[in-house]
Amino acid sequence: MGKATIHLDPAYKLADVPKELFGSFIEHLGRAVYDGIYCPGHQTADGQGFRRDVREAIQALQVPLIRYPGGNFASGYRWEDGVGPKEKRPVRPDGAWRSRESNQVGLNEFAGFCQSADAELMMTVNLGTRGVQEACDLLEYCNLPNGTYFSDMRVAHGVKKPHGIKYWCLGNEMDGPWQTGHKTAEEYGRLAAETARAMRKLDPSIRLTAAGSSNPYMPTFPQWEATVLEHAYEDVDFLSLHQYLGNSTGDMGDFLAQSLTTDKFITDAVAACDFVQAKKRSKKRMMLSFDEWNVWYKTMDQEQHIQPWQFAPPLLEERYTMADAAVFGTMLITLLNHADRVKMACLAQLVNVIAPIMTEPNGGPVWRQSIFWPFLHGSLYGRGTVLRAVADSPKYDSKNFTDVPYLESACVWHEDTKELDVFAVNRSLDDPMLLACDLAAFGGGLTAEHLAMYGPVEAVNGPGQEALKPRVMSGAALKDGHLEAQLPPLSWNMLRVKTDG
Ligand code: AHR
Repeated sequence: MGKATIHLDPAYKLADVPKELFGSFIEHLGRAVYDGIYCPGHQTADGQGFRRDVREAIQALQVPLIRYPGGNFASGYRWEDGVGPKEKRPVRPDGAWRSRESNQVGLNEFAGFCQSADAELMMTVNLGTRGVQEACDLLEYCNLPNGTYFSDMRVAHGVKKPHGIKYWCLGNEMDGPWQTGHKTAEEYGRLAAETARAMRKLDPSIRLTAAGSSNPYMPTFPQWEATVLEHAYEDVDFLSLHQYLGNSTGDMGDFLAQSLTTDKFITDAVAACDFVQAKKRSKKRMMLSFDEWNVWYKTMDQEQHIQPWQFAPPLLEERYTMADAAVFGTMLITLLNHADRVKMACLAQLVNVIAPIMTEPNGGPVWRQSIFWPFLHGSLYGRGTVLRAVADSPKYDSKNFTDVPYLESACVWHEDTKELDVFAVNRSLDDPMLLACDLAAFGGGLTAEHLAMYGPVEAVNGPGQEALKPRVMSGAALKDGHLEAQLPPLSWNMLRVKTDG
């Protein structure tokens, strides 16, 4: 059995974790909206047609914000189609996912759903087929009180109080050739800056995100970041990053090491931001919004192979294995360990589409995937102060990586409750790992609880069979300020240590 150590001290603080690090995302894609959150006639549907059981599963995750309406969908979307009387709303082709959009759910319905799920709505404006004016029209509709054309239109649609949407994304993945209205960095940088300035004139309180790179392998990364920020640095609050981890080489060692690419992606993006800051002699430090992240590879490009123009076809319904959950856990840990610069993140997505929460087709039961649990642990116990811990772990080499630590970990200190939460993944497929944490700096009177999720590499959950879930482990031992716990092979773990202050 390998042994890994972590030394930590509550005085060595990296950053406070904002709640916005545990955001998520719902796109008009597949069965995310229709037959996902929205299912009029379903036995659990509320007066607006939203499923209560799905909402309860979302609420369990305590998602603070939900990005909407896309994604690639946003780059061809006319928001006006989704407001006003439902019977008058047009059916449109959605080129991004080759599906038909009924527009029966639009911004007012979705805002109501977010409110009922205790989440903020984070809106993406269409900078693919549209521009500055339409973004301003949408902002006017959402945030201005009344007495202007679009704010009065909202009131006429039965929504008296403005939505007061704070977070706005300036387009989606504009660096990607697959994106409707794809742009060069020069074109997008100028458009993002102009849109940001115009939107701020209408509502100076909003927080704006410029679209960064769609993944670290884009040939334009990181020059995209530098060029876009040359134009928009002083006009935006965040730069976004997207990344989906996958098993592209078929080598399990490579797959389990994928979060190392996320770590480098963030470091390189931060370098690009700081280069522009230095060049502009700016006092402002750019923060990152990792507003799409997850594991996704089995159902990639699926939209190319379906019968086109269906309503809510079952797209991107990735089934997450134990190995996927471990990789997911390492990605979450990586985000936590960059909490000094990554201030927002959205798990993509939330329901049915590459999602922790699933519903069976045609209004069947709701169930939870393996990735639900690491996210739940992070969201519920990760909102504290990330510590600069020193971890030492045995390492392995895979086809394309060298020196991959078997242990990936993040340590979050809760000053108020004097609780320490250690999130840890054991990447070893075969061996348990003895994890020894030096907690001498936390004083005496320590108690610990160990939760772990583990199982066969290819195990998955399904309706009525949710075997992949955390179990309480016995055997975590505390002695003289040292905690020792055994992490099962290929496992997600959370160690909760209570101190007496
Ligand atoms: O989340 C699925 C898709 O992935 C989004 O629509 C797009 O932004 C990304 O490529």
